[in-house]
Amino acid sequence: MTAVTVRAPAKINLHLGVGATREDGFHPLDTVYQAVSLYDDVVAMRPRRTAPEGSIELNAADHIDLAPLDGGPNIINAAVEVLARHHERPLPASARLFKAIPLAGGMAGGSADAAAMLVGVDRLYDLKTSDADMLAIAAEIGSDVPFALVGGTARGVGRGELVTPVADGGSWWWVVVPSRTGLSTPEVYRHFDRLHPDAATTPRPADEVLAALATGEPLRLARALHNDLEEAAIDLRPELGTLIERGLAAGALRGLVSGSGPTVLFLVDDLDAANELTGELRSVEDVVLIAHGPVAGAHVVLPL
Ligand code: C5P
Repeated sequence: MTAVTVRAPAKINLHLGVGATREDGFHPLDTVYQAVSLYDDVVAMRPRRTAPEGSIELNAADHIDLAPLDGGPNIINAAVEVLARHHERPLPASARLFKAIPLAGGMAGGSADAAAMLVGVDRLYDLKTSDADMLAIAAEIGSDVPFALVGGTARGVGRGELVTPVADGGSWWWVVVPSRTGLSTPEVYRHFDRLHPDAATTPRPADEVLAALATGEPLRLARALHNDLEEAAIDLRPELGTLIERGLAAGALRGLVSGSGPTVLFLVDDLDAANELTGELRSVEDVVLIAHGPVAGAHVVLPL
């Protein structure tokens, strides 16, 4: 086999409870992730003359500005390194990336790319890495990478890397508004620390969202959505608050910042409502996308 194509989804956080900084510098989380239908595709390849080891060819959807990536996301090569170390053997690989998940948008696009590359190289070299080992390797690469493997709807604790699937009775429709310029995740966490010097060590629990998910009712979920990083993201980018107000006025059930932002999400009743809201928002925003969730985690699309 010379090439494997893997598709990995963006994530959103339906609940993001953040506690006070731990000794290792990370924040303890109680979060509920949902994988939604915006995907990056990664082709993991055996290196060749035109695509040498470690090279990443970048391609992107129209709405993506690739400039900030500057040569490719290092996280893809980091993923190969951690996998090679685990198997104690060289795993020469290059990659071709097709990006549709907003960059630095709070949707874990880099984590999706890393998860896709892990799955791709595992298949390319027929490594048959166990699920438990894949999750441990993913956690070493980044806090959101294990969820990108698991997909669906899942609770995340620890620094977000300990994931367990949860009951989700719905198929949820989201209108997704990326920003032209990304926000740095560490910067948003630092701002959270400044705003909440007395944050509790235990993050706010996800119970309300878990109960709402099980009902499958959009209005119940709309009321339960919660993001502890939202205040920090809006403080850094006040226009996000204006955008949320605009979406609510245009009929969204709820608007909130995705993860560390700056992408804004609107929950709506169904695809018709998503199309209607998208039409309204396109008069003021360059890029407005529609996504549904939950969807599968990183999975091979070629060869089957
Ligand atoms: O794990 P990951 O590399 O995705 O984290 C990026 C940065 O986000 C960390 O270096 C840290 O500043 C912040 N972070 C955090 N607490 C978490 C997850 C991420 O403070 N639970």
